[in-house]
Amino acid sequence: MTQKLVYVLNGPNLNRLGRREPEIYGTQTLDDIGAMLAERGQALGMAITMHQSNHEGALVDWLHEAQDAGAHAVLLNAGAYTHTSVALLDAIRAISVPVIEVHLSNPHTREAFRHTSWVGMAAKGTIAGFGAHGYLLALEAAAQF
Ligand code: DQA
Repeated sequence: MTQKLVYVLNGPNLNRLGRREPEIYGTQTLDDIGAMLAERGQALGMAITMHQSNHEGALVDWLHEAQDAGAHAVLLNAGAYTHTSVALLDAIRAISVPVIEVHLSNPHTREAFRHTSWVGMAAKGTIAGFGAHGYLLALEAAAQF
């Protein structure tokens, strides 16, 4: 069986997961999340390519790359760029790969500036507020299309 390729893209400060505000974001590291996704992906027939960058343009480049690589879906936690980046909105609109917006916390229960999501304006759907488990929920959702 050919595996479906899923890109998992993570934005600024997510390299600090596990140590960064654990009361909000939990104690699992990005590597822990990657391992969880790889294991679940194997069971679902999905291959995971995971990246993290603190730089907006790198995320734009990886969205384009997901399209060129024939990815089935992208899981995107754009971190704070979620709330600021028209470039990410345009990049999602520039590709035909469905993008699922993921957040560990629920931005709607937090500061007002987190209530706007440029990513969400173009995403197929959003999973937020379930901590690291949200990435698995997003993968399960991607397995359905
Ligand atoms: C986040 C929520 C954003 O508001 C914040 O800037 C992050 C993490 C989350 O996963 O909950 O960096 O995307």
